[in-house]
Amino acid sequence: MKISVVGCGFLGAVYAAGMASLGHDVVGIDVDQDKLDRLTAGHSPFFEPGLDDLLIEAQNKGSLRFSADFPDTASSTMHFICVGTPQLDGSLAADVSYVNAAVQSLLPHLKPGDVVVGKSTVPVGTAARLAPMIVDAGADLIWNPEFLREGHAVKDTLNPDRLIYGVRDKEASAAAIQDLDEAYATMLDRGTVRLVMAYPTAELVKNSANSFLATKISFINAMAELCDASGADVTELADAIGIDDRIGRKFLNAGVGFGGGCLPKDVRALQAQARDLGVDSAVSLLNDIDHINQSQRSRLVALASRLCGGLEGKRLAVLGAAFKPNSDDVRDSPALDVAQQLQDAGAVVIVCDPHATTNASLRFPDLSYTDTLIDAVTDSDGMLLLTEWQEYRELDPAALRQLVHIPVMIDGRNVLDPTAWRTAGWTFGALGRP
Ligand code: UDX
Repeated sequence: MKISVVGCGFLGAVYAAGMASLGHDVVGIDVDQDKLDRLTAGHSPFFEPGLDDLLIEAQNKGSLRFSADFPDTASSTMHFICVGTPQLDGSLAADVSYVNAAVQSLLPHLKPGDVVVGKSTVPVGTAARLAPMIVDAGADLIWNPEFLREGHAVKDTLNPDRLIYGVRDKEASAAAIQDLDEAYATMLDRGTVRLVMAYPTAELVKNSANSFLATKISFINAMAELCDASGADVTELADAIGIDDRIGRKFLNAGVGFGGGCLPKDVRALQAQARDLGVDSAVSLLNDIDHINQSQRSRLVALASRLCGGLEGKRLAVLGAAFKPNSDDVRDSPALDVAQQLQDAGAVVIVCDPHATTNASLRFPDLSYTDTLIDAVTDSDGMLLLTEWQEYRELDPAALRQLVHIPVMIDGRNVLDPTAWRTAGWTFGALGRP
């Protein structure tokens, strides 16, 4: 099938490469020529394990190319909208202007029988608003939210948990549904669940899935505060409640909380949506989730201050800048927020991360950075592990003890063994653990 992918950011670049690897003939469209040049050279503009290989393989086979020209979409019969919907400045709501612009640019090139597939995360009502223009051109619109995770994006794209099709009418859209089934034949043949529903439900699926994940994290972080007050251990608590498969152990890792380009934005977008719809109880639940998440960051700063005997003039090493491991994404990164709060409180902070320091220095230019752990920790008065890269999980407390000035370790992700660190002579602290 001939496919165009409009928007070659994180979602679009992975999607274009993924669909090409499934045997389709794909053109990726973007306005950023620099990004297109890098993708054409087989270099992902961001760190995502496995993506460069997929890009090179697809381009060598001749099934993937990139272009800045919208007329290049004209030879495709299916068009995936993969542009971003970031949080609007000064509002909790998502900015859909890139989606609107993508559809406007696509309209002159649509042919009867084409299918436009919306993958961006949008507020309820977006698909119903855009559909008439697309239908007027003889094409159809399916909203098909995407659930890929950064750091696992290639695998998630090729092996999704489920496929959601939001349609204007199951019968009227039967041909479009069949076309999308053809595009996803490899996944459907493997037994991937496919659910067809009306536009509003499909639009809510993504925001509510991410808000539910955020709820689990904020719930366990609220429990971490109870654990701190009672002497309990939140990691053991999570193991114990997570055995119940109605609850599940995933997304119950307490610590400095969630960040990134999706969970915080989607919780806020759902809040804005609930407010618009006049659903007050949903607004207050979502507000609490966001509030608990933000307060974990200041609780960690307070813990650092307590264990280091104040922050003024203390040389602190922050391990991690990315919002999670295996990513160089620093959007709404808890690690950088904490680093900035520590510096604002008078500490001398140095941040290290194996892949994210370049992006971090663009967003937080006042912080100091190094790519090397040794540079960050040598002579430090305290260390905070805030992004659980594998290499930080495997740190040797006895060896590190020789490098630092004062051995204080604060585990903001609850991935280290407190006993091992204390035995090696460290003052060890974490949120929700004695
Ligand atoms: C999320 C969704 O998981 C994905 O389905 C959707 O398509 C995009 O948004 P992503 O933003 O890549 O994916 O990150 P995710 O793995 O969900 O982690 C989000 C944040 O939660 C990270 O900062 C992570 O460190 C934090 N987290 C995760 C916790 O604090 N505790 C946990 O138990 C799990």
